[in-house]
Amino acid sequence: MWWQSGTIYQIYPRSFQDTGDDGIGDLAGVRRRLPYLRDLGIDAIWMSPIFRSPMRDFGYDISDYCDIDPAFGTMADFDALLEDTHRSGLKLLLDFVPNHTSDEHRWFKESASTRDNPKRDWYIWKDAGPDGGPPNNWVSNFGGSAWEWHEPTGQYYYHAFLASQPDLNWRNPAVREAMFDVLRFWLDKGVDGFRVDVIWHLIKDEDFRDNPLNPAYDPGEPEIQRHIHVHSADQPEVHKVIAEMRRVLNEYEDRLLIGEIYLPLERLMSYYGEEGSGVHLPFNFQLLQTPWRAEEIARIIDEYERALPADGWPNWVLSNHDKPRIAVRAGERQAANAALLLLTLRGTPTIYYGDEIGIGQVTIPHDRIRDPWALQEPETSFNRDHARTPMQWSATANAGFSTTEPWLPLTDDWAERNVQRMSGDAGSLLSLYRRLLKTRREEPALQTGSYRQLILDESVMAFERADETARFAVIINFSGEPQNVDIPHPYMAGSLVLSSIGERSAYVASPLQLGPDEGVLIKA
Ligand code: NOJ
Repeated sequence: MWWQSGTIYQIYPRSFQDTGDDGIGDLAGVRRRLPYLRDLGIDAIWMSPIFRSPMRDFGYDISDYCDIDPAFGTMADFDALLEDTHRSGLKLLLDFVPNHTSDEHRWFKESASTRDNPKRDWYIWKDAGPDGGPPNNWVSNFGGSAWEWHEPTGQYYYHAFLASQPDLNWRNPAVREAMFDVLRFWLDKGVDGFRVDVIWHLIKDEDFRDNPLNPAYDPGEPEIQRHIHVHSADQPEVHKVIAEMRRVLNEYEDRLLIGEIYLPLERLMSYYGEEGSGVHLPFNFQLLQTPWRAEEIARIIDEYERALPADGWPNWVLSNHDKPRIAVRAGERQAANAALLLLTLRGTPTIYYGDEIGIGQVTIPHDRIRDPWALQEPETSFNRDHARTPMQWSATANAGFSTTEPWLPLTDDWAERNVQRMSGDAGSLLSLYRRLLKTRREEPALQTGSYRQLILDESVMAFERADETARFAVIINFSGEPQNVDIPHPYMAGSLVLSSIGERSAYVASPLQLGPDEGVLIKA
């Protein structure tokens, strides 16, 4: 399947390329950059939401699922983008946000109009608790109670995120049918699949019981960590709903369903579903959440590989629009090793735009914070703006992103850290991404071969990818010190495919001398 051998590239459309001179990226901008993406060597684009939205959560609050937000363009722009994406040999995945709508969606307006409106039960309405307060102790992911009092109808409604993002009631079959028609609308146009936002949230406890307190909660953490979310998400019935969703995808040929799921491994794996009834890929966020140390990384790879169901295809994510970028988490000097790891592990990789040029820390002055979570929980939450700054294309004004000041700042080093400059430098991170993607495309062993750990110590981790056509070893020095590594037999007379720190001799001997922060790919 294309989604098993291929690589996904996530675009945050607000920040990719502006063509409208307003400092905000748009669909025409993505279309203009298709040649870049094709040359980079990726296979599929996933775009964060582009639908009509008041943008309180930058498109994750949708007021019309079947229309394009004017900030991004028109439906004609979308159709042209889809056509050109396919003409470039790439797939296009959209972001489906089924758990909640915007409070400006007409469904919610109807639902909120009177208690006996036919759409009342499309959302989650409850009477006040015995003390007049919220019906239970559930907390919003962005802090504060997850229940908003609605004075005109005298009830609370539930919102797992902002109060302007009311949760839909997925237990209601009419809601499910309406949302499946949304999927069909885009599938009929020819989109290749969806990344489904917070899919594990769709079904809540039927009795809305309180969540238990988290004994490990540290008051410095976001408030959402205060409880263990045993009742507000990941309910057994969610799998039935996902199976229905999957059946809609199966009405079409060759489409992909990815689920956004932050859960412990064994819970995550249940989202593959019985006999292909779940999502094709439950996003694997292990790398996003693990300290960048050889032993830790080896451990999570091992645990993940062991936990996979027999027919479950693995996948790996290094960064996304909600978490600190890899160049910040692993450090700039390890960003190249992170690329090597992501693109040689067993499973579909998802590259986050801008990681290929190593976008790292960006200074965001207080008055330029835009992330609603950071604004709502200033002391405790990560400011997601840091992961959403504009793509840096060239050393011209505004890094070639826009003719005007971008909606979020650029990195301090944008004049050097940009696609144009780094394309001309064979030793740049961008050139490494290109070589890795090319090698992966040419070598079935790297796409679908087996995985086996070879070496592990405090600083160095090595693994093998192999099939009947070839064998590769990936050896990564996680430390800033040089390391001598005894390499296993078949690789001693092997050839060096690439090094993460640039040129080195193709001759491979044991012990292999790895430079500080160096990773290598060797073919036996
Ligand atoms: C997960 C998305 O990735 C995040 O950006 C958004 O704020 C929430 N879901 C709510 O849709």
